[in-house]
Amino acid sequence: MIIGLIGFGKVCQNLFKLIRSEDIQFVTSAEKRSRYTIDAIAKSGIDIFPTFKDVAIRADILVSATSPSKSVEVAKQYGKYSNGIYLDLNNISPQTTFEIDNHVSNLIDGSIIGKIDSKNPTIYISGKNADELLFLNEFINVKVLSDRIGDASILKLLRSSYTKTLTALLIESYQIAQNYELENEFFEVISLTEGDDFKERSISRIENTLKSSKRKSEELNEIIDCFDKNDLIMVRAALEKFSQL
Ligand SMILES: NC(=O)c1ccc[n+]([C@@H]2O[C@H](COP(=O)([O-])OP(=O)(O)OC[C@H]3O[C@@H](n4cnc5c(N)ncnc54)[C@H](OP(=O)(O)O)[C@@H]3O)[C@@H](O)[C@H]2O)c1
Repeated sequence: MIIGLIGFGKVCQNLFKLIRSEDIQFVTSAEKRSRYTIDAIAKSGIDIFPTFKDVAIRADILVSATSPSKSVEVAKQYGKYSNGIYLDLNNISPQTTFEIDNHVSNLIDGSIIGKIDSKNPTIYISGKNADELLFLNEFINVKVLSDRIGDASILKLLRSSYTKTLTALLIESYQIAQNYELENEFFEVISLTEGDDFKERSISRIENTLKSSKRKSEELNEIIDCFDKNDLIMVRAALEKFSQL
């Protein structure tokens, strides 16, 4: 089996490292890539084809993991040459996933949950032939959600909506605790039910959000755009909170 990689950044390098089998040949191309990517390709030892078109034609599974802004362009350019499965792993909205589906005949919608280089990377997938990727469970966690395109992207956005909204509440509660000089006690009392690492996880989450509150607000705006037909009272409140940070 040939797995073709479009993009050779963190995601594809990790997939190449983790999925090791004599039955699987990984291929990619260095066509029009940056020095950084060309070096990473050369160092990895992956098989190289002259063009991404060649990669798309030959691959049984074509993986697109470039950047959210390139995902549609890549699908338009190479989707038509793909005879096998086209697995999109970009961090994109359900609407973008539906757009990609218009250019690709056998799309599988994939969402990486957490960082790909975490201890146990998990990928949720959905699409007509998603079951065909279950063999990857030998190497990484792969969970099939349904046969519907969009479900994996929706679930990822929902997770992001939940964690960001919860972080807004966490920041607000922490600020109140600070006003009463009860920060340590605040973490301690919640740790009783949320687990011993609650304080550590919360501080990292708060610091992360304070550093990038503008980007987090943009992501919440995307969530609001995408789920605008739903009740979004808490998400809108989180957006207001982030705009004050
Ligand atoms: N890293 C994670 O843990 C993670 C988790 C969830 C989702 N994702 C998503 O997965 C995707 C890839 O992430 P990453 O961390 O691997 O990104 P990355 O490290 O920035 O790598 C992106 C790779 O795609 C290549 N590329 C860009 N445009 C291309 C094009 N038109 N044709 C072919 N190759 C192209 C880049 O090459 P150049 O160097 O030449 O630009 C680079 O090799 C993103 O959409 C990201 O949101 C990542």
